[in-house]
Amino acid sequence: MSKPHGGKLINRLVKKESSDVAELPKLEINTDLSEDVLNISKGVFSPLEGFLYDNDLESVVKEKRLADDTPWTIPILLDFDKQDIKDLKEGDAVLLTNKENGVLAQLDIDEIYTYDKKTLAQAIYHTKDTDHPGVANVYNMKQLLIGGKITLLDCKIRQFDNYNLSPRETRFLFKEKGWREIVAFQTRNPPHIGHEYVQKTALTFVDGVLINPIIGRKKVGDFKDEVILSSYETLMKHYYLKERAVMSILRTSMKYAGPREAIHHAIMRKNFGCTHFIVGRDHAGVGNYYGPYDAHDIFSEFPDLGIIPVFFRSFSRCTKCDSVVNDKICPHDQKYHINFSGKKIRELLTNGEIPSEDMMRKEVAETILRFDKPFVE
Ligand code: ADX
Repeated sequence: MSKPHGGKLINRLVKKESSDVAELPKLEINTDLSEDVLNISKGVFSPLEGFLYDNDLESVVKEKRLADDTPWTIPILLDFDKQDIKDLKEGDAVLLTNKENGVLAQLDIDEIYTYDKKTLAQAIYHTKDTDHPGVANVYNMKQLLIGGKITLLDCKIRQFDNYNLSPRETRFLFKEKGWREIVAFQTRNPPHIGHEYVQKTALTFVDGVLINPIIGRKKVGDFKDEVILSSYETLMKHYYLKERAVMSILRTSMKYAGPREAIHHAIMRKNFGCTHFIVGRDHAGVGNYYGPYDAHDIFSEFPDLGIIPVFFRSFSRCTKCDSVVNDKICPHDQKYHINFSGKKIRELLTNGEIPSEDMMRKEVAETILRFDKPFVE
């Protein structure tokens, strides 16, 4: 199993009597930020103990590392309007709250600082184009950032919690199963044949696979959370060995930051205890902002990452080979290849049609079609 990133699994969960903190001012935060609070508290973002300080942000933007040199590529930031925090100053403590997931967390305000959105967008997303969903999010952020430690006091039980294992729980599970080498698979889609193929190919070399879909805010047209989970339940029931594959969710928003997000995805899975991480074609990409293998190349900048990337070139089905292939193993012309196109699959499913079994398992397609509205609107 991997050691936690930065050496220690962070645990910022403290049961305090609510009377102990009743005096503190309350600040309501949106659900994305409250998911960050949960991920900090449970150690998914280890070694972070809170939202980034100014010097860490600057270092993440310029060096893709925290100020102490630990690899870190996606800044975890808490933004506020001047008006909302006009009565607060550095050294104060507040309670962060969110109704949707019942988050109640103490934030120690160590720093209040400003930042430059253009520099941030360009560094993280490699573009300032507001059509990029990640850039649009940056431009919608508020003017000020707060850096400070988090202590989680409470949260609610929620839908899909049966699949929501913390890093402590996945580590326990892997130990119980006797798995020493575990490959993690990041996804935001129901499985097509290409997804299944990369997972099973990687699994051949290790003890088990953690299928780890991202559950949370995605963009319009993406599959809904419940569709992704049901389709994987179906696939695993029919086509996976129970003792070799587990599924657990990761509650966080997709950033669509391509290469930088691939590193961030790998770090979170390292914290879950995984030793290997799958990176295929256009990992965490959107539109044509990144080259198909940019997310492979970036790993060479992080020899000290502490989790092994498993790279795959784009898989497709070759009708001449009569198998799943990529450009490293198949000599045949493109005209013999059927691509596992997410776009094509979505189009067919939108029209109520079952994609060919060359692209998607029939049982998986049928599961998706049982949903009235499978896509985020
Ligand atoms: S992502 O945004 O989470 O990357 P998706 O759920 O489609 O999107 O992909 C999950 C993982 O499977 C990523 O590592 C991606 O690169 C990989 N992948 C998807 N399709 C293919 C394919 N045809 N060949 C190789 N890898 C693929």
